[in-house]
Amino acid sequence: MQKTHRKIAMEDKYPASDPRWQTVDRALKQFGYQQDALIEVLHIAQQAFGHLPEPVLIHIARGLKLPLSWVYGVASFYHFFSFEGAPEHTCIVCTGTACYVEGAKRIIRALENELGIKIGETTPDGHFSLIDFRCPGSCGPAPVIVLDGKMMGRETPESIMAKVRALRNNKQQEAAA
Ligand code: FES
Repeated sequence: MQKTHRKIAMEDKYPASDPRWQTVDRALKQFGYQQDALIEVLHIAQQAFGHLPEPVLIHIARGLKLPLSWVYGVASFYHFFSFEGAPEHTCIVCTGTACYVEGAKRIIRALENELGIKIGETTPDGHFSLIDFRCPGSCGPAPVIVLDGKMMGRETPESIMAKVRALRNNKQQEAAA
């Protein structure tokens, strides 16, 4: 029921007649629907909408034939993009070669167990999203994690779990207050 209300609210807010959609469509066309143009298209969409609401991310993902989790992951990675209806916390795990070799897979497994979701998913309460991302080019401190937009290196399953648990505990305390 909650989802239905949310969907209706989103459709009301960004109707198909909204001219800003044309700006996004023009950008997709201008870049030939090339997946490499994702960041440029996200920029143009953000300029048009002021931020990146979920329907816009979905539209871009469809236009470029990319998984939504990928589009969301890229947009979350760069601090200059902002969202609406986004999960409260986002944990992005780099799965590029250097990070993979240094234990990214163990980190993902630990986080999946802790949060009860698979990579690419969001917890049912919308509190946490777990996303994978391919090498942002900062391989020195592998394995690299981006937690709520902050890049952290040389993480272990234990170190990242401690941070995630602290965020979850804060949320529980807020709910109990
Ligand atoms: S492989 Fe992870 S930052 Fe390069």
